Amino acid sequence: MASNSATDSPVPYVDIGGQFQDDRDALMPIIEEILASGQHVGGVWEGRLEAALTQWCGTKHVLALNSGTDALILALEALGIGPGDEVITPPNSFVASTAVINRVGATPVFADVLADQNIDPRAVERVVTTRTKAIMPVHLTGRVADMNPIVKLARDRGIAVIEDAAQAIGSRYDGALAGSIGDVGCFSAHPLKNLNACGDAGYLATDRDDVADYVRLARNHGLMDRNTVTRFGTVSRMDSLQAAILEFRLGRLDDTIKRRRANAAVYRDHLDPDLVFSPPCRNMEFNTFHTFVVQVDHRDALREHLNGMGIGTAIHYPVPIHLQPAAAYLGHGEGDFPVTEEQAGRILTLPIHQGLEEAQIARVAAVVNAFLRKRR
Ligand SMILES: Cc1ncc(COP(=O)(O)O)c(C=O)c1O
Repeated sequence: MASNSATDSPVPYVDIGGQFQDDRDALMPIIEEILASGQHVGGVWEGRLEAALTQWCGTKHVLALNSGTDALILALEALGIGPGDEVITPPNSFVASTAVINRVGATPVFADVLADQNIDPRAVERVVTTRTKAIMPVHLTGRVADMNPIVKLARDRGIAVIEDAAQAIGSRYDGALAGSIGDVGCFSAHPLKNLNACGDAGYLATDRDDVADYVRLARNHGLMDRNTVTRFGTVSRMDSLQAAILEFRLGRLDDTIKRRRANAAVYRDHLDPDLVFSPPCRNMEFNTFHTFVVQVDHRDALREHLNGMGIGTAIHYPVPIHLQPAAAYLGHGEGDFPVTEEQAGRILTLPIHQGLEEAQIARVAAVVNAFLRKRR
């Protein structure tokens, strides 16, 4: 029986094209202005975005860059991390968190995660050595990792903290904004992020003048002025179009986060806690729900069932980084990080984007509950 009811229409995992349609009238004049200005790189928009972002990141400096990956690489470089150094990070993340450590010639050292998928501070403590130069927690799903013990450990040992806040713009922990807790915070503005560009983009936040000075030069060939290079750099600037689009969307970020949090609350109210595990919110945190990841039995069958019902899902991430072929040189095998490995087979990311309505979220939850009840 066909039905047009909103409650059984498809629920797309993302709707980036739809977001553009909503923004279209406001964005098109901005895009035209930039194209007509001829200042496609190095215009006024980059600086304007940086000024606007300092409030969201809660730091003295914010530097606009061309990706979250480059933000992480430049942060590591700025802290002088390279061959012979170790950086501790979780094996459950997007591959960039580990890849950047490899890129600067340092050694990634993994620490397993907790039930909430974020790095376990006690596991970090167990793998610190005299070669550890930085700890890089990842605020996965928009939930800030348990930073107090990590920062304490790092300060006691003289180790830097680089927050991979790619998924966590606007998230808070114990009153502090994600990205402002450690030495450097690195953010992605990839199209799938809560604050998203129309292409690759990222930014770096820090209170440290030395880090900001390094990144400001390094992102633009190391040029002090038009003709003077004191230290060779790279090209990692944010272009004018992405900067202006992000400045515009920053004005809507409060609303985006509000809607995502409301959708998360609907999931919490409707999903059966006996069948579906979703990490509880701590009192000290403000989660921006970049993703809504649950842990379930029969994950693959459930995903297929949801797909058949027109409900889009994702898995973040099906293969832990330590088991990726690229990480073979580190010598890890199955069983080394049991929590991450167990989660890899159980995690499922449900649709939560700001364009979804309560009835759609409630429908997803009902389909999940019904499927799992039958399998129990
Ligand atoms: C946790 C994490 N770290 C780093 C990155 C890299 O960011 P970008 O894609 O902007 O280079 C991402 C982006 O997907 C991410 O989710």
